[in-house]
Amino acid sequence: MNDQLLSHRGATPADLDEVVRFVRNADELFFAFPKAHWPLSHEQLAHVLAERQGSTLALLDGRPAGFANFYQSIAGEYCALGNLMIAPWARGQGVARYLIGVMERIAQRDFLARELKVSCFNDNSAGLLLYARLGYELRGLVERQRGQQRVALLQFGKPLQS
Ligand SMILES: CC(C)(COP(=O)(O)OP(=O)(O)OC[C@H]1O[C@@H](n2cnc3c(N)ncnc32)[C@H](O)[C@@H]1OP(=O)(O)O)[C@@H](O)C(=O)NCCC(=O)NCCS
Repeated sequence: MNDQLLSHRGATPADLDEVVRFVRNADELFFAFPKAHWPLSHEQLAHVLAERQGSTLALLDGRPAGFANFYQSIAGEYCALGNLMIAPWARGQGVARYLIGVMERIAQRDFLARELKVSCFNDNSAGLLLYARLGYELRGLVERQRGQQRVALLQFGKPLQS
């Protein structure tokens, strides 16, 4: 939608105080970062930044608006997208669509990946519709635990064009 207003760069520790505000509640945190504890903290994100590859910040009109990284990257094979979260004020404006496109290109460029994998919990309808909209194909479904609750994690993949 607002492609001319969107840009991106590598995320840095200085961005994290902004990124912690990208999730509004414990449900959204679980969707984007299931191992984290609510409320999301600078420390939890600093750990992610140190451990994961490809942490990227999307900017809408120059303002930090979205975050994502790879929780797995197997060179020559695939990358797996994680921690996708869009600032509440920036939602519904194509930021996730843009950032996933950026992550697809980073996966190809830096990891020679032939596929981008994504996963989404069953009760996250916005996430499920997002991946379907962007051409991701359902590849599997696994059971996960959320506290005492049994939930389904849907696994998607998209071949990356070389
Ligand atoms: C899900 C989320 C990433 C979507 O980000 P966004 O920037 O608002 O999404 P976009 O504007 O790029 O929308 C792209 C597509 O996603 C889907 N979508 C996005 N928000 C939606 C909503 N609230 N309800 C239904 N579908 C939605 C639509 O298919 C949309 O395409 P369309 O605009 O042609 O209808 C965002 O709401 C978010 O950060 N949620 C909390 C964390 C989370 O769930 N992360 C994803 C983990 S899998």
